[in-house]
Amino acid sequence: MSLVGFPHIWSKNSSLAFAQDGEIKVGVLFSLTGTTAIIEESLNKATLMAIEEINANGGINGLKITPVVEDPASDPATFAEKARKLVLSDRCVSVFGSYTSASRKAVLPVFEKQENLFWYPTLYEGRECSKNVIYTGAVPNQQQDDFIPWLVEKFGKRWYLIGSNYIYPKEENNYCKKLLEGLGAEVIAEEYVPLGHSEFSSVINKFRSEKPNVIFSTVVGDSVVALHRQYRAAGLDPATMPMASLTTSENEVAAMGGDAAAGHFTSAPYFMVFDSPENQRFVEAYRSRWGGDKVTHFVSESAYFQIHLFKQAVAKLAASDIGPLAIREAVKGEEYKAPQGLVKVEPENLHCWLRPKIGQCKPDGQFEILTQSADWLEPNPYSAYPNQKCTAEGLKEV
Ligand code: ACM
Repeated sequence: MSLVGFPHIWSKNSSLAFAQDGEIKVGVLFSLTGTTAIIEESLNKATLMAIEEINANGGINGLKITPVVEDPASDPATFAEKARKLVLSDRCVSVFGSYTSASRKAVLPVFEKQENLFWYPTLYEGRECSKNVIYTGAVPNQQQDDFIPWLVEKFGKRWYLIGSNYIYPKEENNYCKKLLEGLGAEVIAEEYVPLGHSEFSSVINKFRSEKPNVIFSTVVGDSVVALHRQYRAAGLDPATMPMASLTTSENEVAAMGGDAAAGHFTSAPYFMVFDSPENQRFVEAYRSRWGGDKVTHFVSESAYFQIHLFKQAVAKLAASDIGPLAIREAVKGEEYKAPQGLVKVEPENLHCWLRPKIGQCKPDGQFEILTQSADWLEPNPYSAYPNQKCTAEGLKEV
């Protein structure tokens, strides 16, 4: 029999349906080895925990979520290869994964070509408007709009930008430089080190000689630990030359030791100490599942809540209609009471409304929350590019 003309019936009834034998498969694609395993391993744990919670409560309308876990080993080419496997061979209806923007960029063509859906929990640089990604981490306006003026006011106008050498730090710094310019502040250095870099003595000598008021760090992965430890070993003082970071979470602090991070600042929508019933439940569940010494942080929190958004979206669909694009449509405008507070998926650009906060690290490895925005903040993935806007119809010139 010819199937031409009956694609809808065909996909509903054939072995290609996504809901099969009482389960739906999802991919879990976080590095368990390599330079960003330090953070991605915790994203894997938060994702699996949320899936277990949902399954323990009856699944989604009785369907069990089956995670298919792959280790892309902190390598963008391996990310792309594993993404293809999860989408094409395993027939996952969505894939949750990745930390660096380099790895997200590597998997993007797979999801766009195959019309599948990638859920990305990490803070990132914006300037992306894919219809095949749900972005649940912060974009630059959500981490910088409150943070940069606050730091200029408190510490001064001479800034040193240090980042890892790839797209995320460069784009994030583009926005930072625009904000600094508007505040009459000066960038005295902008420097990038290779991913995985661990020898910061020459950088630290420059901190010492240039004496910036603020060191703005977009260094990622293992390098965060090395930078902080070497800063402290050099005897520099966070009270007069703090590091202000968008990537240093409780997780990197646990790896470096609280003493090395104490006094420095991070801007993020979530900190582990945040006082809410949802966060108390999240932290207790995470520690009871993965160990009493484990920490939660702003990327594991979004790795966790994005699974619950996925659940809410799938729950709106009949089993025979479940598919990546139906899930994307169903998640638009969806709200969830996350550990950081109520969040929402913006229907226009598939990014999330989040709740920015500024924290200062203490010697015990936790942050003290110094400020929090009164309300949730709209995601603007093109904040550094005011002539462009990501809309439901695609990227528009405005
Ligand atoms: C990042 O690469 N988005 C941290």
